[in-house]
Amino acid sequence: MDAATAARTLFFELTGHSPEGHWSAPGRVNLIGEHTDYNDGFVLPFAIEHRTHAQVGRRDDGRIRVVSTFDPIPVEVALDELDALFPAGRASVPEWSTYPLGIAWALLAASGRTAADVTGVDIAIASDVPVGAGLSSSAAIEGATASALNDVWELGLDRVALAKAGRVAENEAVGAPTGVMDQMASMLGETDAAIFLDCRSLDTTVVPLGFAEAGLEVLVIDTGVKHAHSTGGYGERRAACERGAAAMGVPALRDLQVDDLPEVQAKTDDVTFRRVRHVVTEDQRVLDTVRTLREQGPRAIGELLLASHASMRDDFEISIPELDTAVDAAVSAGAVGARMTGGGFGGAAIALVDRDRRVEVSLAVERAFADAGFAAPHIFTVVPSAGARRDG
Ligand code: GLA
Repeated sequence: MDAATAARTLFFELTGHSPEGHWSAPGRVNLIGEHTDYNDGFVLPFAIEHRTHAQVGRRDDGRIRVVSTFDPIPVEVALDELDALFPAGRASVPEWSTYPLGIAWALLAASGRTAADVTGVDIAIASDVPVGAGLSSSAAIEGATASALNDVWELGLDRVALAKAGRVAENEAVGAPTGVMDQMASMLGETDAAIFLDCRSLDTTVVPLGFAEAGLEVLVIDTGVKHAHSTGGYGERRAACERGAAAMGVPALRDLQVDDLPEVQAKTDDVTFRRVRHVVTEDQRVLDTVRTLREQGPRAIGELLLASHASMRDDFEISIPELDTAVDAAVSAGAVGARMTGGGFGGAAIALVDRDRRVEVSLAVERAFADAGFAAPHIFTVVPSAGARRDG
């Protein structure tokens, strides 16, 4: 059963009637620009064809009820209890439900409405975005729910405002200190293109990728190693970046250039310096990738992808042996370039490959995983696709 039908079936089982509308939003792959978003820097993600679907109907008792394929038990609260739930009471509801409920809470705040201004809702959610693979299954839930509630509640918020509400939900309701890249990619994605995003101004430019024309495909190599950004390493990396910016007296690492790195080294400890070096050089690699795509096309970006991976492995230290193995094996088997994508500590790598080498590269990666004693990876292609929308 596809995810749209699964969500519809769930909705019917929950309510005994058909939904009034159907919305969906995609996961994303980040082509380049990792851990730069919360440093006010640059990113270049694209939305993928894997989507999360929300089937929605109104109810007249001021309550919100959510159900999903992640958990058989629905979660129901009164809309006027959301303020007590987030952030202080978040532990009283199952974690998956903090995404859609957090969106409802963040949208009311963003639009200046109260629970009394809007109708109750039932929401059934199903997804074909792999969870914990670094493909932003969370932003897809947020994007589908936000698009639905924006329409049903007639809030009139634009896509950027919906993405920002997604970040608020993720930071404050879920408790993951992430940036805004994933929500922007999921809301604003375009077919065959990446979104170049300035995370300070939130200005976006659509950058055509031309992968298909160049005979290229993007392979996702999901290591199966799960990660969660609400715990541990992600927050520590963010704190190191803030330390580095404070030591240099700038609002964010975005304000530093590669030329400033010797001064950073003189003013910070080795670990902080390497974290800063990753972010500052990664911002530059995003700009270089956008220029290279425009001037020379997608075959020319391989070295930039590899340099990004090396920087995350050696300076930011967020890669894991499975991701390094995926990148090395893909490139040895002829990939144009490869890198881990997303927040790190698990998840997936991407490889840009010639269409007619796809099988060879996939087999080489599978072999390398088997030789290293790792569990078999899940390998599939992704296509740059459209962002959040109403489907019915
Ligand atoms: C996760 C976060 C994003 C971003 C990336 C790393 O996907 O949700 O905001 O920080 O990690 O680039």
